[in-house]
Amino acid sequence: MARVFVSGSSDGLGLMAAELLSQQGHEVLLHARNQSRRNDAQAALPRALGVVVGDLSSIAQTRSVAEQVNAFGVFDAVIHNAGVGYREPRRIETDDGLPHVFAVNSLAPYILTALIHKPKRLVYVSSRLHERGDASLEDLAWKTRAWDGLTAYSDSKLHDVLLAFGIARRWPDVLSNALEPGWVPTKMGGPGATDDMEQAFRTQAWLAVSDDQAATVTGAYFYHMKPREPKPETHAVAIQERLIEGCRLFSGIELPG
Ligand SMILES: NC(=O)c1ccc[n+]([C@@H]2O[C@H](COP(=O)([O-])OP(=O)(O)OC[C@H]3O[C@@H](n4cnc5c(N)ncnc54)[C@H](OP(=O)(O)O)[C@@H]3O)[C@@H](O)[C@H]2O)c1
Repeated sequence: MARVFVSGSSDGLGLMAAELLSQQGHEVLLHARNQSRRNDAQAALPRALGVVVGDLSSIAQTRSVAEQVNAFGVFDAVIHNAGVGYREPRRIETDDGLPHVFAVNSLAPYILTALIHKPKRLVYVSSRLHERGDASLEDLAWKTRAWDGLTAYSDSKLHDVLLAFGIARRWPDVLSNALEPGWVPTKMGGPGATDDMEQAFRTQAWLAVSDDQAATVTGAYFYHMKPREPKPETHAVAIQERLIEGCRLFSGIELPG
């Protein structure tokens, strides 16, 4: 039995993965953005260890989420699943002065990785759209670029892979991998999504707990429990380090050695 924390598990793929893990006998800690969503998550999976609360668009609240997780002790696996989509029509600025998509999808996983007690496994939920992301990492805060919601989302999902691979390299004692779930009809995916919902949430759960040889690797990228080659630049150490340095500067939080 493993203990697993899943971010963004009040709904969608995070909740589905949490339900699967719980059915398999694992202990799951859920996460919701606020008290009302906390109650929804609790009702959806009453067997959960608990529900931590915090809006990941806020650096202060993300710090608090990490503290709440740590109060439950050390986890075997953390799944960085929470995310916002590609339909934001303009640059929505957070209280920290950052674009909302970057704050939730890129910076929050970095902060949680840095502050949650180091688990044995880290899983980062990316997207096929990461391939469209800008690997130059210029203008992470969208101060000079004209806003494009699809590019901002694609960038953030590229960041998730870079973070997974950067951590895999920096922390050889941790299995750190990324995946794409496929385009499926969750709240984010929308009703027109065409991929297989039955498959979409399984890879993150499998990478978190399975002892299969195929799942106990690090620095790899998956789709439907099969390895897949991500955008080539994700393997570039200099780009991984550039993202980590950017996140350090935006958050003021150091990644432990
Ligand atoms: N669905 C797809 O087709 C698809 C494709 C590729 C990749 N993905 C990735 O899969 C992951 C899960 O997406 P999904 O499809 O399950 O989306 P979803 O149904 O919209 O669920 C997203 C989860 O993240 C939470 N969340 C969003 N913003 C948050 C914030 N600021 N603070 C705290 N929690 C927040 C949501 O909370 P609320 O319930 O309160 O909104 C929800 O629990 C994401 O990383 C996404 O990028 C999805």
